[in-house]
Amino acid sequence: MSAVAYTNTAALAQSFEVRPFDAPVGAEIIGLDLTRPLSDEDFARVHRAHLDHALLVFRDQRITPEQQIAFSRRFGPLQIHVLKQFLLADHPEIFIISNIVENGQPIGLGDAGKFWHSDLSYKEFPSLGSMLLAQELPEEGGDTLFASQQLAYETLPADLRQATEGKRAAHSYTARYADEVFAGIRRPTLTEAQLAEVKSVVHPVVRTHPETGRKGLFVNENFTTHILDIPEDESRQILAELYAHSARPEFIYRHQWQPHDMVFWDNRALIHLATGCPSHLRRRMHRTTIQGDVPF
Ligand code: SIN
Repeated sequence: MSAVAYTNTAALAQSFEVRPFDAPVGAEIIGLDLTRPLSDEDFARVHRAHLDHALLVFRDQRITPEQQIAFSRRFGPLQIHVLKQFLLADHPEIFIISNIVENGQPIGLGDAGKFWHSDLSYKEFPSLGSMLLAQELPEEGGDTLFASQQLAYETLPADLRQATEGKRAAHSYTARYADEVFAGIRRPTLTEAQLAEVKSVVHPVVRTHPETGRKGLFVNENFTTHILDIPEDESRQILAELYAHSARPEFIYRHQWQPHDMVFWDNRALIHLATGCPSHLRRRMHRTTIQGDVPF
């Protein structure tokens, strides 16, 4: 695992608290200042908390793009999103998620997360985790839901669990492009070069977390197209049942954003969904995406 690739032996330890939510996943980190470099000792505590709770909320982080990037890099190399038009100028490691349109042009991806997904599951090396920093929040709506796919796997009905045994599924970035455009969702047209970056990949339907060893479902309605080696209608039926099960309320933590929140979630353990906000209200978020391992 790459989480210790970037260290800082010079930084001083800070005093902070990890406070678990009364929810299936998630904890709040109180008192950690991410404008300061993180000591190796503090990094180890944050890393442990992330593995234990799958999602961490860092409150009131008035950090620069450089500081968000530096903190994210402690966990591994960063991934650059295929939609280059929505990368922050001079900081391509930051992907802008926003419904704001300036001078007739969207400043970020407006419809990110409309369907349940795990970030970049369509890549050979899907994401370890994402850090999403609130820059501008609407007065109403804009929550993000996170569902534990490990709890989902552990509570699968026996027949469905058996149907996932040893199975692999294909994932594609463009899987829902046609549906989304059909539903009136604006989607940027991809160039040949962009299409070459997002060729379809195959991953196990159930993955083992590389650091905790816990098993979880690894299919999602946004990017998974079909289960391999079974008839198409059977694959469609099993995926529909898995999707219905994977987003049951008892697996979900709902994040209601506060100004300057930064949320760091584990894409190997969770799927997430952006609930959206009224279109006249402004929402702007900065995401860094940390590369993970090939799922097994
Ligand atoms: C995402 O899918 O990464 C975006 C989630 C959000 O904007 O709430």
